[in-house]
Amino acid sequence: MKFFVDTAEVDDIAELQATGLLDGVTTNPSLIYKSGRDFKQVIAEICKIVSGPVSAEVAAMDVDTMIAEGEHLAKIAANVTIKVPMTVDGLKACRHFTAKGIKTNVTLCFSANQALLAAKAGATFVSPFIGRLDDINLVGMELIADIRTIYDNYAFATQILAASIRNVNHVSEAALSGADVATIPPGIIRKMYDHPLTDRGLKAFEKDWASTGQKIL
Ligand code: E4P
Repeated sequence: MKFFVDTAEVDDIAELQATGLLDGVTTNPSLIYKSGRDFKQVIAEICKIVSGPVSAEVAAMDVDTMIAEGEHLAKIAANVTIKVPMTVDGLKACRHFTAKGIKTNVTLCFSANQALLAAKAGATFVSPFIGRLDDINLVGMELIADIRTIYDNYAFATQILAASIRNVNHVSEAALSGADVATIPPGIIRKMYDHPLTDRGLKAFEKDWASTGQKIL
């Protein structure tokens, strides 16, 4: 499974890129607002750090303006992926970008039928929002498994990008359910390294190694 980071914070992205484990980035209007920075400038900076797909979302609601905005954003860098909403106009724009060889990410997907439509529109990625489904007492992870089955039944090439990840268990469960990608907030990526038994074991090894009095170098 590929790891994208879900943030518009350039410093976090640079730090995670240095681990060599980062495959891409997703942003959205709320994350841009939170960063307090200029949208296009931030996307340009991210694309200089990360060579994988970087999702930049259109703001318009109508297809013509979505296309104009998406084509403008796509000029920022070759790895910009245009994020469009899961609406009739969004999927029309998706078809347009796909025909032009521009990568797309259909966002705000909450049902298997929506994911089916996104695949038929030729989306590169579809983003089912796990956490927001959990928030309303549904089981977000079931949607990932359902989309996996549907896409495999028809050999759709659209990649399932598990989004709205709220905890470390969401990541492993998304992997078990067949997501192609998970887009994860930086704090949750950092928590994935942690296990108390790793810490305890390492302390013991460190102490015993010091007791040997040996050196490797
Ligand atoms: C995905 O692309 C979205 O940016 C994101 O995962 C939304 O997460 P949230 O529901 O925690 O806002």
